[in-house]
Amino acid sequence: MGKTPEDNVEGRIVDPKPGSEDGALDLSLRPKRLSDFIGQRPIVSNLKTFIDAARNRNEALDHVLLSGPPGLGKTTLANIIAHEMGVGIRTTSGPAIERKGDIAAILTALEPGDLLFIDEIHRLSRVVEELLYSAMEDFALDIILGQGPSAKSIRLTLPRFTLVGATTRTGLLTSPLRERFGVSFRLEFYSSEEIEEVVRRSAKTLSIPIDGDGTREIARRSRGTPRVANRLLRRVRDFAQVDGDGRITRQIADHALSRMEVDKEGLDVMDRKILRVILEKFQGGPVGVETISASISEERDTIEDVYEPFLLQQGFLKRTSRGRVATPAAYKHLGIAAPKSAVQDALFGQE
Ligand SMILES: Nc1ncnc2c1ncn2[C@@H]1O[C@H](COP(=O)(O)OP(=O)(O)OP(=O)(O)O)[C@@H](O)[C@H]1O
Ligand SMILES: [Mg+2]
Repeated sequence: MGKTPEDNVEGRIVDPKPGSEDGALDLSLRPKRLSDFIGQRPIVSNLKTFIDAARNRNEALDHVLLSGPPGLGKTTLANIIAHEMGVGIRTTSGPAIERKGDIAAILTALEPGDLLFIDEIHRLSRVVEELLYSAMEDFALDIILGQGPSAKSIRLTLPRFTLVGATTRTGLLTSPLRERFGVSFRLEFYSSEEIEEVVRRSAKTLSIPIDGDGTREIARRSRGTPRVANRLLRRVRDFAQVDGDGRITRQIADHALSRMEVDKEGLDVMDRKILRVILEKFQGGPVGVETISASISEERDTIEDVYEPFLLQQGFLKRTSRGRVATPAAYKHLGIAAPKSAVQDALFGQE
């Protein structure tokens, strides 16, 4: 395949993973209470019940597992839970806890009721994970002191705490760990109305003038992800200031998003590149994710965690036992004629 302009683009405006400039902004835009949290209705109402019940009993909340693609609000929810429970929160991540001693130090420093948030919990090392089992279940830590024949095992009692784990895919968790969570929530992409609400709320917080059509245009192209919506809003504001009168309208939003190569469906350069490879190099598939990864020099995990969920949800891609298959919608979106192929016919019929 020849080089397309899409091969040369750096960074991704619609990357749902946090970027370097998102830090302070994420914090100021992050809802602090359950009542400010937009969307994810079933999760919010269940959480409210569990939190109210635990508070009434004066107990720590059961351990909670949050899963879902990046940028949908897992970290936000963990902080909200701590806030609503009125407890302290200690935040760490799977890769940051390297040794048993690290997790032991964190656990023994917790106050009763505290919330321990472990981001990317699927990336915990085996030994650390095994230590967590008894901590989660029995609120105890078995530690071996010394080495060889004189080694002694002692059991430390831990305060009742709540573990909140976040992961992009529950499938990456071992089952013993998964089973120790009393509650497991999967965050879904937001509806366009919900994302509109996110855009409206953020524009208000940042005092950005925006009209209804501008809000809708940004929301429509934010791939159902609040983090993307906030980032697009900020970039569109730049275009509104430089190329307009500062106000975000549909024209300005459309102009800005086209300049950033975010198309009408919210797909960016990388999404189109993935679809294009499947269409042009592999006749629409099926093609294994490893092969796609090698063809576009992008890590398999990134493809599976970041790009695929949205392409699957939007119906551009299908997962089959033999690999990924592009749908007729993908051909249509990229303006490529669908080939007469047995696979396409079998999966999607004569269209
Ligand atoms: N329900 C929501 N309502 C309003 N804003 C939200 C909501 N969820 C997330 N956001 C915004 O999106 C940003 C990203 O959310 P968050 O950091 O919680 O995502 P995440 O799921 O933890 O992502 P990652 O997997 O990359 O850690 C937040 O800073 C917040 O501004
Ligand atoms: Mg997070």
